[in-house]
Amino acid sequence: MIVGIIGSGGREHAICETLKKSKKIKELYCFPGNAGTARIAKNIDIDLEDFEEIKNFILKNKIDLVIVGPEKPLVDGIVDFLERFKIKVFGPNKVASQLEGSKIFTKEICKKYNIPTANFGIFKDREMSKNFLKSANYPIVIKADNLASGKGVYICDNKAQGNSAVDEIFNGKFGKAENLLIEEFLIGEEMSFFILTDGVSFKNFGTAQDHKRVLEGDKGKNTGGMGAYSPSRLLNEELEKKIINKIIKPTIKAINDLGTKYKGFLYAGLMITNNEPYLIEYNVRMGDPECQTILPKLNSDLLEIFLACCENRLNQIQIEWSNKKSLCIVLCSKGYPDDFKKDIEINNIEKINLNKDNFIFHAGTYRDGEKIFSRGGRVLNFVSLCDNFLEARKENIQNLLNLDWSEGYYRRDIGFKVIEK
Ligand code: AMP
Ligand code: GLY
Repeated sequence: MIVGIIGSGGREHAICETLKKSKKIKELYCFPGNAGTARIAKNIDIDLEDFEEIKNFILKNKIDLVIVGPEKPLVDGIVDFLERFKIKVFGPNKVASQLEGSKIFTKEICKKYNIPTANFGIFKDREMSKNFLKSANYPIVIKADNLASGKGVYICDNKAQGNSAVDEIFNGKFGKAENLLIEEFLIGEEMSFFILTDGVSFKNFGTAQDHKRVLEGDKGKNTGGMGAYSPSRLLNEELEKKIINKIIKPTIKAINDLGTKYKGFLYAGLMITNNEPYLIEYNVRMGDPECQTILPKLNSDLLEIFLACCENRLNQIQIEWSNKKSLCIVLCSKGYPDDFKKDIEINNIEKINLNKDNFIFHAGTYRDGEKIFSRGGRVLNFVSLCDNFLEARKENIQNLLNLDWSEGYYRRDIGFKVIEK
């Protein structure tokens, strides 16, 4: 089969590497990909906003299946667009993708289907929002409704911070704002829970804990993710049942009740308080770096899984996983998430001795001739599978030391909550 993957991050490189293991794969294309995908797929430099051009390329090159990695094209309706031309696509359609595209859409589903989540209110203008903030309990959480690349969330400790968040959102920092969300601050520990569904049945697709803050000890600014480990330390059978019955199943039903089906990965960002799950947010894709962390544990054929999902026969397949622990450390450019240098050569990659359970997935890299250069904030993902998290972290750090990239920064404490000092 000829398969196309849309995206250019660590997630998409991990998907490409995992698909490549399938005997049925004849050719892979990546739109636009990175230096890692360039080794195993044809990278196609295409504007991801230009659905027409993407469609023309897919038809011309007879691509049998398209996998959409990031949220933006999903929220913009790429699945609906491509399906109009009878292209097989893995990913949720525009209606279903509102679960990530609109926080208010998701909150309204939570209310209607009794899905546990933080108490909330929807506010249509500055005055209403600020009036509410006068007598609110702090800390409180204020969120822009629309896609904001993880930046539209403010945890406010007092009224002044709250007012300033309201102003930023209504001033259009995250695009035109018709309303915003103010919600209760939940105390607990976070967990990422993944499933894959064809709209009728679903399969668990692992759990993870990511580290969003840039500095060790979970301090500093929020980033796209500095590392992750899987499985989450919070998981137990009782909690899993609650997540499925109180959150996942009602959500799949809610999308069905809208007259459509959810098809693809669904990523629930949860807060766990006393073994009770609360939905913080949905993402309509795999997480990054959670995807890179989880996929190396997959023992089944990923292509068969995607096909079963697209062909509405997910209930007929089994998904097998390794029992090992997986830990991922993200190597980013010094300065990220603020300003950082680009176009810096990364020269030792080929010299690192990876064992069969070590992986390097590229993110913001590109190839020029035989050389590899940095392009983005998050540059490489080092992943290791081991019997325990401590060993996995040690192996990754050894590989990072061998790379010795002077422009790089990484956290040495990924997994600190599961690794005894
Ligand atoms: P979101 O983009 O909705 O996932 O929010 C980003 C981060 O803000 C989450 O990963 C949480 O750490 C935090 N957060 C969001 N909503 C809440 C909440 N209601 N209570 C506590 N923390 C929250
Ligand atoms: N790791 C967080 C995300 O993918 O949104």
